[in-house]
Amino acid sequence: MDQQHVADDLALDQTLITEDELQARLAEMAVDIGGDYDGKDLLLVGVLKGAVMVMADLARALDRHVEMDWMAVSSYGSGTKSSGVVRILKDLDTDLEGRHVLIVEDIIDTGLTLSWLVTNLRSRGPASVEIATMLRKPDAVQNDIQVKYVGFDIPNAFVVGYGLDYAEKYRNLRCVGTLAPHVYS
Ligand code: IMP
Repeated sequence: MDQQHVADDLALDQTLITEDELQARLAEMAVDIGGDYDGKDLLLVGVLKGAVMVMADLARALDRHVEMDWMAVSSYGSGTKSSGVVRILKDLDTDLEGRHVLIVEDIIDTGLTLSWLVTNLRSRGPASVEIATMLRKPDAVQNDIQVKYVGFDIPNAFVVGYGLDYAEKYRNLRCVGTLAPHVYS
């Protein structure tokens, strides 16, 4: 089944960002990141599960050595909104002392989970902690979440694909899109 069939089958309403657009933007971000971390070690930290796709593509777009590590956190929230109260389900395997850490995110909505994560990682003695995200929603801008690398600023809609899920589905879409309204009802 090709991706169009997957999208049709999965009731994707509208493609917001195509696969080509995602990859082209990632290539640009990789140039910026490569330049900024020139001569420094770099540890990419992904938050499971959404960041899997962007981590895989960003790491391969970088023309340099990188290490990758993963965290799994659960954010207590109702429905699709997070609360900022976070529990670590899987911690990093890497000691962050003196490391340059770049958190790789799929999307930042309120940024509450991320704010907590940045504070948590900064307490571990790293040389630096910065954030790269593929997508950013308006609330993150309003909440003044400091993000060094942003792929796309998107409107305040619920999106799926490229790692993002609705009820654990749609993560394997190569593009980012919105769901047909009947999916929610
Ligand atoms: P925040 O703490 O409000 O920034 O929530 C971030 C997390 O909420 C992301 O890592 C996603 O798992 C989830 N999320 C926020 N917006 C969307 C969306 O539009 N589609 C799918 N997941 C989303």
